[in-house]
Amino acid sequence: MTTTLLSDIGLLVTNDPSLGTGATGELTDAALLVTDGRVAWVGAAVDAAAAIAELGLGPLSALARLSAGGACVIPGFVDSHSHLVFGGDRAAEFEARMAGRSYEAGGIRSTVAATRAATDEELRARLAGFIAELRAQGTTTVEIKSGYGLSVESEERLVRLAAEATDEVTFLGAHVVPAEYAGRSDEYVDLVVGPMLTACAPNAKWVDVFCETGAFTVEQSRRVLSAGIAAGLLPRVHASQLGPGDGVRLAVELGAASVDHCTYLSDEDVAALAGSGTVATLLPGVEFSTRQPYPSGRRLLDAGVTVAIACDTNPGSSFTSSMPFCIAVAVRDMGLTPAEALWAATAGGAAALRRTDVGRLGVGARADLVQLRAPSYVHLAYRPGVPLVERVWKDGVLVA
Ligand code: NIG
Ligand code: FE
Repeated sequence: MTTTLLSDIGLLVTNDPSLGTGATGELTDAALLVTDGRVAWVGAAVDAAAAIAELGLGPLSALARLSAGGACVIPGFVDSHSHLVFGGDRAAEFEARMAGRSYEAGGIRSTVAATRAATDEELRARLAGFIAELRAQGTTTVEIKSGYGLSVESEERLVRLAAEATDEVTFLGAHVVPAEYAGRSDEYVDLVVGPMLTACAPNAKWVDVFCETGAFTVEQSRRVLSAGIAAGLLPRVHASQLGPGDGVRLAVELGAASVDHCTYLSDEDVAALAGSGTVATLLPGVEFSTRQPYPSGRRLLDAGVTVAIACDTNPGSSFTSSMPFCIAVAVRDMGLTPAEALWAATAGGAAALRRTDVGRLGVGARADLVQLRAPSYVHLAYRPGVPLVERVWKDGVLVA
C-alpha cells in the first residue's frame, strides 16, 4: 500500500458539497491523502495528521509528501466527447470558413478518405500524441468515438484502436452516409445495425448517431440507437448542431446518457432535458470554430438541466483538445459562472459518461488531480490561452 499526502493546497475543488462550500465543494488550506490511486481522505490541512493516525497509515513523517505550494487543485477534466482516431486534417476548410464559408456535415467524408488510407501504426501514433496533448492540459478521462471509417472493417479498426487508449469507446458508424451509399441511406443504416454493429460492439461501451439534416433522420437514428442498446451498448446522441430538430427528444426518450451539441434548442427540448437523466453536453469549440451562435448554458442550468462541457476534438468542427479553453468560452459566451463551467468540465463530464469514480475528489474517487499554476480555477477563464496546468495525476500517478 502506498500513501501520499498532497498538502499546501490553497484552494481544493472536490465537487462534493458535503466536503466544502457550494456545488463544487470547495475547501481552502486543504490536504488530500492518496492511497493506491484513490482518494483516502480530504480535509483541512491542520486535520491531516489526526486523519492519518485514525486511518492507521503510520506517522505523518513516514509518508511520501508533496506540496501544492498554495495553488489550486481540481479534479482532472472529464472530456466526454472526442473523435481522436482519424487521418489528415482540414485546415483549408477552416481557413475557408473563417473567410465566410459555412460548416457542412459533408466535410466528414474527406476525413473518412484520409482515415481509410492511414495505417494502424499511423493512426495509433497520432492518437498517442493526442492523448499526451490532452493529459498536459489536465484531461484524465476521455471518451473517443469511431466514425471516420464507415465500413465494417474500417469502423472495427477505429473502435479497436480507440479501446487501446480509453475504456470510454463509442461506436459512431452512423456519423454520415459514406459516398458509396449516396442516395441509399437506409441501406447504409442496415449495414450499421447489422454487421458493423456486430463487429464493433465487443470493443465499445457506447452507441452514438449524428441525428441531423444531412446525416441521419430521427427514424434512422432510432433504429441505430435501438440496435446498439439491444447489443448491450449505452446510447448517446449528436443533435441540434446545425439546426433545430427532434434529436434531443429522441435522446431523452431512449434514456441516453448525454445529448451533445445542443446549439439550437426549443423550449420543448429544454423541458424534456430538465425532467430527464440525460446530460446536455455543450461543445464550445464547435461554435468557436464554425462561427455558429453559442447556445445559452445559462438557459439550461436555470431550467435544472445537468450540463457538461467537452472539446469534441475532431479535424472538422473543433480541433481544440483544451478543456481550459472550452471552459473560458463557456464562461465568456455561454453564460456559465467559472464554478459552473469547472463543474461541467469535471463532474458534468462524469455524469455524461455515467461515471461516479471520476470528476470528483471525495473519498473513494480515483486520484485524478490537476494542480493549477494559479490560486483559483477562475483563472482558467480569466487567463484564456495561458497554460495553467502545472501537474497532473491519474490514478495517483504523475502523468504530466
Ligand atoms: O461532433 N457532428 C458531427 N461530427 C463532428 C464533426 C466531424 C467533422 O466535421 O469531421 C462533431 O462536430
Ligand atoms: Fe462530435
